[in-house]
Amino acid sequence: MARPYTFIFSTATLDGRIASVTGYSLLSCEEDFRLQHSYRAEVDAVMVGSNTALLDRPRLSVRLVKGYSPARVIVDSRLRVPPEVAGLRGASILVTVETHSWEKLKPYIDAGVTVVQAGRGRVDLAKALDVLRKRLGVRRLMVEGGGGLNCAMLHQGLVDEVRVSYAPYIFGGGVGLAECPGLFDGKNSRVELSLVRVERLCGDWLHAVYSVVRPKTPLL
Ligand SMILES: NC(=O)c1ccc[n+]([C@@H]2O[C@H](COP(=O)([O-])OP(=O)(O)OC[C@H]3O[C@@H](n4cnc5c(N)ncnc54)[C@H](OP(=O)(O)O)[C@@H]3O)[C@@H](O)[C@H]2O)c1
Repeated sequence: MARPYTFIFSTATLDGRIASVTGYSLLSCEEDFRLQHSYRAEVDAVMVGSNTALLDRPRLSVRLVKGYSPARVIVDSRLRVPPEVAGLRGASILVTVETHSWEKLKPYIDAGVTVVQAGRGRVDLAKALDVLRKRLGVRRLMVEGGGGLNCAMLHQGLVDEVRVSYAPYIFGGGVGLAECPGLFDGKNSRVELSLVRVERLCGDWLHAVYSVVRPKTPLL
């Protein structure tokens, strides 16, 4: 199967949380926001999970630097994200499962959303990426969370790079940068990363880019 060149971008606390226990997730400083927008300007599409789409309603557009806004992709197996939210701003793609009826999908199409169906039960991410690449021409994809989507993408070997900004905070709980309990055991199954570069942002923030080393260990 084909897929776009894919990287995750997240801003996390030093203890790896992208949101606190109460759902607070505003972790970026000004330079980090600019970096995020410049990354968006590099890609054809930005992808988020259904929880992030519902909780944060992110615009996913390029506003702080020059460049075109990418297509927005929302991964939502159960159609929890309403059509008016999915189709809110710019070109939107909803990735969902193959079992939904035309009647359920029609309101999304009427709202201007392109619907991609991949998998049954839960979205088959590898298949979805194949469709994004081959049918919709997405060559570069940025995944902007949340932790559930990040983890599933990493677990399935669909990520080439992880770009993470570390905010100088510790939350002690909340949503992790990659959250899929039970899929990794940390010894026989893990994703290994290689550090490409690090830079300092706004004095106290760090930005690190890692490439994903193809796992030497089995992923299941
Ligand atoms: N600081 C940051 O950089 C940052 C960035 C983004 C988000 N956030 C925060 O992260 C939190 C949300 O993260 P989250 O982990 O709860 O949710 P998420 O990753 O945004 O969404 C997870 C949902 O995606 C859907 N999904 C569909 N197919 C999937 C698949 N194959 N694998 C995994 N998920 C699939 C699932 O719902 P269905 O089964 O219903 O489809 C799943 O519950 C929010 O608090 C948000 O503010 C922070």
